[in-house]
Amino acid sequence: MAETATLILPDGSRLDLPVVVGTEGERAIDISHLRSETGYVALDDAYGNTGSCLSAITYIDGERGVLRYRGYPIELVAQKSTFIETAQLIIWGELPTTEQRMRFSELLTENSSMPEEFRSHFAGFPAHSHPMSILSAMINALQSYDLPGLIIDDHEEFERVAASLISKVRTIAAAAYKSSRSEPIIYPRYDLAYTDNFLHMMKSKPYKEYVPTKAATRALDLFLILHADHEQNCSTSTVRMVASGQANLYASAAAGVCALWGRLHGGANQAVVEMLSEIRASGLTVTEYIARVKDRSAGIRLMGFGHRVYRNFDPRAQILKRAVDDLLDELHVTDPRLDIARELEAAALSDDYFTSRRLYPNVDFYSGIILTALGIPLDMFTVLFAIGRMPGWIANWAEVHSGPRGYATGPSRIYRPRQVYVGATEREWTLQSQRTVDVVTDR
Ligand code: ACO
Repeated sequence: MAETATLILPDGSRLDLPVVVGTEGERAIDISHLRSETGYVALDDAYGNTGSCLSAITYIDGERGVLRYRGYPIELVAQKSTFIETAQLIIWGELPTTEQRMRFSELLTENSSMPEEFRSHFAGFPAHSHPMSILSAMINALQSYDLPGLIIDDHEEFERVAASLISKVRTIAAAAYKSSRSEPIIYPRYDLAYTDNFLHMMKSKPYKEYVPTKAATRALDLFLILHADHEQNCSTSTVRMVASGQANLYASAAAGVCALWGRLHGGANQAVVEMLSEIRASGLTVTEYIARVKDRSAGIRLMGFGHRVYRNFDPRAQILKRAVDDLLDELHVTDPRLDIARELEAAALSDDYFTSRRLYPNVDFYSGIILTALGIPLDMFTVLFAIGRMPGWIANWAEVHSGPRGYATGPSRIYRPRQVYVGATEREWTLQSQRTVDVVTDR
């Protein structure tokens, strides 16, 4: 018999609510008819307890530190896969065959260059524009070139568009960096693999080719794999929200970039390194800085610590922590901020303030360190996160349009949360001459 939960309302009436059970045994109370049947809505500020959709892409168990892409543990994916194979797994649900990998590789290569007229848009941004603002604008602009008819008709068209976005987000990101520095844009090379090609476009100069070490390429590829999807986080929920209004893939992905930009989300990797630089410049000891965080009156958080879902450890952080150690040894990088990071990590992990609130280093703590060691400029950190997250956004966009695989539910209804209004109740109009300073004037 199907499981139900019973809700007893203040007037004593009862409502049976179906319980939906996920494939990993997660249980959710389906309240989709709550308002129509009772007039009540559920209130869940910041959605901490709300399942906004059914999804078959990524599974997370925050208590046990489990993360799986399409059923494959992240540790296995990180060890065995490349970013491009991971992208295919995330978008299409299965590990690709050799033939599928080769076809997708060809599509990535064919779609790596930007159309010549498209390149001219970069000139419209003032020097020192943030690469995230250029990236979001250019992804939106790309739709006019890639998908002028706006409609994706069939699987082949979807594959082409997915390859184009994954390939071009990297080309645009490198070009955004170059144009933010008023340097000439570098063309992609057709003989380089995905991550090497990005490093080439970002770091080569017209007069000097940049050749990354194997360790650098592998570390960056690992970074991209670990960021490829993370179920209903802020930016992915944004992509789904925009997609639910039937906006095209490019508009939805551009919205994802904007949502990712914030310091509490994708911007945290940049914020971690800014914090390390600030500690160094201020001359504060790590103990003194931690005391300021705990004091709360300064309103500062230990960036790169804490996570809404992971309450014991972030499995991505554990993988990156090991990679950081290997990379620093291999590249012989010395940077005083990296020493501060290690001290900070040790101090916080043995401090009751953090352990009692179950605040552990998240992926951004170590990714900030890895990107610093790789010589990636600070304002490109979140851009790299966006390159990594693109497969997840594409897969989630596709789910909104056709339902999770095996569920064939068809396009999702438009996302439209309710609210509990706490503003003024109905009132009389006040003439301008009679308004007091408390009255909000036109803005
Ligand atoms: N430093 C100090 N205290 C913190 C931190 C932190 N980094 N994070 C949470 N806390 C405290 C809060 O002040 C709160 O304390 P209280 O209960 O005494 O009031 C308690 O821990 C719970 O915090 P919430 O804000 O309720 O946790 P929430 O789940 O809403 O936020 C978040 C999660 C945004 C990640 C938060 O931990 C944070 O701001 N961390 C720093 C930014 C960061 O690293 N973001 C990256 C997230 S991962 C990602 O996007 C890929």
